[in-house]
Amino acid sequence: MYNVTEDRIQKLTTLLTKLNNEGITEDARRDALNIVANIDPIELSIAEQRLIEEGMNPEDLRNLCDIHMEVLSDELVKLKMKLKPGHMLDTLIIEHEKIKEFLTELEALNFEVQKLTSFDENKQLFLTLSQLAKNIIDAENHHKREEDVLFPELEKRNITGPTRIMRMEHDQLRSKKRLLKATAENTTTENFDNSKKEIDELAKYIVFNLRDHIYKENYILYPTAIDALQDNGLWEEMKHRSDEIGYCPWTPKN
Ligand SMILES: [Fe+2]
Ligand SMILES: [Fe+2]
Repeated sequence: MYNVTEDRIQKLTTLLTKLNNEGITEDARRDALNIVANIDPIELSIAEQRLIEEGMNPEDLRNLCDIHMEVLSDELVKLKMKLKPGHMLDTLIIEHEKIKEFLTELEALNFEVQKLTSFDENKQLFLTLSQLAKNIIDAENHHKREEDVLFPELEKRNITGPTRIMRMEHDQLRSKKRLLKATAENTTTENFDNSKKEIDELAKYIVFNLRDHIYKENYILYPTAIDALQDNGLWEEMKHRSDEIGYCPWTPKN
């Protein structure tokens, strides 16, 4: 269906297995760069999918991200050049920028919380944290547009590995985000020490994993989508379905 080189997929699959078993050695890294340098996102997706089908834990696939990132650095620029304003992927990419700003704020705010020695020292900080957590939770419609409009179109075309990973990450992040908000709101003088520790763990988890998630979508999943769904009429229709789901309170207008 796609112009996929079986041989390259096979090589890539072998390499990914090696990376996961032996970690990123210098040799493996050089091999990976050679193979990945000319690979198209669909081929990578298929190789990833094959590994999952062979029983690899989707979480282990994250290891290969580092190497892949090196060769993908201009992928987003190329992608954006193909998108007109209002294209559903364009909106998703713009929302990613907004989410990344929240993550930077979360990192800074957690840093302040970790400096506190008591709840009374700065109660306001916990209110700010809860508001920030709410903004991050409000990305829900963003994730829904991905899950209900974008992913099914890819899945219909047998690209199911990457979407499975993305859905799994959405679920894991959803529960951590809610927990962060609840923890910020329920902090008291009495439970301060525990709460502070929990906030640290949750904030770090969300910052790291949501950034990583966004990176994979911007650089792998969305370029895969543009390559796989080449019908402008289909994108129009997907845009309408996206409008029906709606946007986030902080999605920039236009
Ligand atoms: Fe996502
Ligand atoms: Fe996203």
